Amino acid sequence: MKVQVCIIGGGPSGLLLSQLLHLKGIDNVVLERQSRQYVLARIRAGVLEHGFAALMREAQCGERMDREGEIHDGFLIAHDGVMDRVDLHTYSGGSSVVVYGQTELTRDLYEARDKLGGKVIHNVEDVALHDLKSDAPYVTYRDGDQINRIDCDYVIGADGFHGVSRKAIPKDVLREYERVYPFGWLGVLSRTKPVSPELIYAKHERGFALCSLRSQVLSRYYIQVPLEDKAEDWSDEAFWAELKARLPEEVAAKLVTGPSIEKSIAPLRSFVAEPMRWGRLFLAGDAAHIVPPTGARGLNSAASDIYYLYHALLDHYQNGDEAGLDGYSAKALARVWKAQRFSWWMTTMLHRFPGNLPYEDKLQQTELDYLFSSDKALSSLAENYVGLPF
Ligand code: FAD
Ligand code: PHB
Repeated sequence: MKVQVCIIGGGPSGLLLSQLLHLKGIDNVVLERQSRQYVLARIRAGVLEHGFAALMREAQCGERMDREGEIHDGFLIAHDGVMDRVDLHTYSGGSSVVVYGQTELTRDLYEARDKLGGKVIHNVEDVALHDLKSDAPYVTYRDGDQINRIDCDYVIGADGFHGVSRKAIPKDVLREYERVYPFGWLGVLSRTKPVSPELIYAKHERGFALCSLRSQVLSRYYIQVPLEDKAEDWSDEAFWAELKARLPEEVAAKLVTGPSIEKSIAPLRSFVAEPMRWGRLFLAGDAAHIVPPTGARGLNSAASDIYYLYHALLDHYQNGDEAGLDGYSAKALARVWKAQRFSWWMTTMLHRFPGNLPYEDKLQQTELDYLFSSDKALSSLAENYVGLPF
């Protein structure tokens, strides 16, 4: 097969880019290691920036998001026996976020790809990238006993943190920056009415907790757990009891519990790989960077990469202008690092760090005291949470 752009990974990054390029007549294929069913069973992010929502509309995939997604103008932080509200709308100068699950968004993207007859190949094995430094790169993959080859102009590595694309960049070129946190998030999805119309981030001496939602009948809750814990070791009863213990009493009293539909643990990690371009390979989304989910930046950082790449490829194919492709890595990384800083800051402020000095605990408390006593600090939080401009 010969295409202009070969996209590795059928997560939100790969599918969104594929759809945007297709609408502009740029021929592309998506190679995905898993089945569609598997990809759509993963429960991940829930909060979208307006920049991302705008890109979904541009991709003609925004209809259900606009109908079913909820606009949130603020969220709550419970700490030290009080519950403070961050008024995103006021402090960001009129912006907000959209609460719409990554699972739904991915489903919308798959349906849009089907409607246009987009090429998405599932269950590919042994994907390998070749001749990335030449002007005729190609990708191979195995389908049963058969090795297939895709010739292309460009390869997009949108295959997540565990993908193969980043590993195709030579070790002496690739620089990796990483911080692994000594805890994870145990997440539960349940068909229950959310305890609060707005998200509640809770800092508690037993550990962090988050009350989120997917709709008015679907709740998503998380608690900080040690890295050694396994999701199977947590019964639903134990999860609800621990969540209640970390929430303010008046919130815990209102919590509606029910059977979990999904329960999983995500380790918390900060990670950036540089550069994001090597020859004809361009990395996007989790393939190049990971944030802890505390600031809801993961999926949104992927969206800005796709925005830059999409425009760079358009400039190349429509105007013969290479500046966007040449500047992609530096431009994407400038925004990526700001999302890293913000996610690290939110994580550090709200979690319990085993082994912290009493001095560090005091600083953590002071960070929150300062935040809610300063309009400027709240504006900084709000500006980052709703998303810095692309
Ligand atoms: P992915 O969604 O990882 O998609 C990559 C795709 O590539 C996958 O479908 C994978 O199967 C495929 N792939 C991998 N290797 C290969 C290969 N060799 N060949 C072909 N295909 C391959 N963000 C938030 O903002 N809030 C959250 O609550 C949150 N929770 C998360 C929980 C977990 C467990 C994880 C892993 C991430 C979470 N994130 C969250 C981050 C967010 O989901 C990601 O930032 C987002 O999924 C990035 O999209 P992506 O398309 O770049 O990568
Ligand atoms: C979620 O709903 O899954 C979610 C929301 C906000 C976050 C992280 C996860 O910061």
